[in-house]
Amino acid sequence: MDRKLSFGSLLAVILAWLGFCGAVTVPVCQTTAAPPEKNLTDVRTAEVAVPAHPFGLAYAHQKDRAFVALNTSLGVFDTSALSPSLIHEIPLPAAALSFNGATGIGITHDGRYVLVTTFSTTLIIVDAARAVTGSLDAVVGVLNGTAAAGSSGIEVTVTQDGQYAFVSQEDGSPQTDGRGNVEVFKLDGPTANGSFSGTPTGYLTLGVAVVGTALSPDGSLLYATSEMSSNTTGEGTISVIDVEKLKTDPSNAVISSVTAGCGAVRVIVSQDGQRVWLTARESNALLAFDAAKLISNPTDALLASVQVGTAPVGLTFARNDTRILTANSNRFNFPNATTGLSVVDAEAAICGEEAVLGQISTGLFPRELAVSPDGSTVLVADYASSDVRAVDVATLP
Ligand SMILES: *[C@@H]1O[C@H](CO)[C@@H](O)[C@H](O)[C@H]1NC(C)=O
Ligand SMILES: *[C@@H]1O[C@H](CO)[C@@H](O)[C@H](O)[C@H]1NC(C)=O
Ligand SMILES: *[C@@H]1O[C@H](CO)[C@@H](O)[C@H](O)[C@H]1NC(C)=O
Ligand SMILES: *[C@@H]1O[C@H](CO)[C@@H](O)[C@H](O)[C@H]1NC(C)=O
Ligand SMILES: *[C@@H]1O[C@H](CO)[C@@H](O)[C@H](O)[C@H]1NC(C)=O
Ligand SMILES: *[C@@H]1O[C@H](CO)[C@@H](O)[C@H](O)[C@H]1NC(C)=O
Ligand SMILES: *[C@@H]1O[C@H](CO)[C@@H](O)[C@H](O)[C@H]1NC(C)=O
Repeated sequence: MDRKLSFGSLLAVILAWLGFCGAVTVPVCQTTAAPPEKNLTDVRTAEVAVPAHPFGLAYAHQKDRAFVALNTSLGVFDTSALSPSLIHEIPLPAAALSFNGATGIGITHDGRYVLVTTFSTTLIIVDAARAVTGSLDAVVGVLNGTAAAGSSGIEVTVTQDGQYAFVSQEDGSPQTDGRGNVEVFKLDGPTANGSFSGTPTGYLTLGVAVVGTALSPDGSLLYATSEMSSNTTGEGTISVIDVEKLKTDPSNAVISSVTAGCGAVRVIVSQDGQRVWLTARESNALLAFDAAKLISNPTDALLASVQVGTAPVGLTFARNDTRILTANSNRFNFPNATTGLSVVDAEAAICGEEAVLGQISTGLFPRELAVSPDGSTVLVADYASSDVRAVDVATLP
């Protein structure tokens, strides 16, 4: 997206220089470095170097194990100590990857399968139990999406019944006017010979660059972000989608949609289902929405906008939803910005009080975050510096 955004910024500068500001009706989103935050030097962290740029990560249902997408392999980590260690690499089938490999990771509700999206059109299915033992036959299926639904899968969400997977295909296709899609895969599960089968059954076109998806706790709603309203300009959106309709009639599944800052990327939902939080990357902001109002009165649903660090991407809850961490990626490489994790007090944010408690240092381009099932640790994929970092939640302010 860097190319498109810098073109948008350049366009804004040229239009302003020509005196055309008044003619631009859609605001041009233009990112800058966020002001520095207090360093949280007392927070305990530990990192391990990995052999590729890490992208998605998720904890396994197996105790003390986590999965990380490592471009051409799925890394299996031992997380029993704070410092994670890479114990297995499951090679991913070359034919299923494009020039840039694996991206997001999702796990079925029962923990049996790990789903890996790719920059291509494919969805790779891995048997979790085999992967944690390092078995080379852990990859059990490759599902291929339809060309019309686009490519560059960033996240995958599986329905609670395990029957459907929804993939955010960031890059749309000519058929969708370059707009991104949520692609629907019907998962048929294991066949007689043990391979996992499934079929792409449709897609829902949203705005440009569709990246983040998250299910409501009861599984009935899917929230999805889009970064921009057109290729170069305009605020992103958050859409609320009816999961039952999305399964079989995707083009009619949107319940509501509303603007959500510049560069809306990742989204999470609180355990009680009442609040939806997302990162607005080009606004350097963490936004909170009231979930009920997103449906009943979307333009009145924004509860809070918190300035965090530069170009936040991943986000996660910690300590029973009382804290939110954002991965401040600085992915547009401002020389006067640092990368790190902003620690946000969720209640203070909703009350409109000073909510940022400080920033934890990370490597370069922290991209995705995951919290352990027992809540004790947050894992960070430092994409550009090729390390995986753990944060000790007990030492957070
Ligand atoms: C970063 O540098 C740019 C360009 O010099 C400047 O406009 C901006 O105010 C600086 N931001 C911060 C937070 O220091
Ligand atoms: C905070 O930490 C960053 C990264 O370690 C460092 O570059 C910066 O100088 C520190 N700032 C302060 C105010 O100590
Ligand atoms: C997926 O489908 C596309 C056509 O849409 C094709 O070009 C590509 O080779 C297929 N990939 C795999 C792994 O089958
Ligand atoms: C990912 O792996 C491919 C080989 O399949 C390689 O060409 C590419 O450079 C790698 N990407 C990154 C970002 O390292
Ligand atoms: C397994 O069975 C499925 C259909 O049931 C078939 O498409 C697939 O090619 C088979 N795989 C192998 C390795 O025999
Ligand atoms: C995005 O750009 C492509 C190629 O220039 C164009 O065909 C398409 O209409 C644009 N789509 C949007 C939503 O701006
Ligand atoms: C989170 O909430 C649960 C249930 O209310 C409680 O048992 C647990 O101790 C809480 N954890 C933390 C870290 O506060």
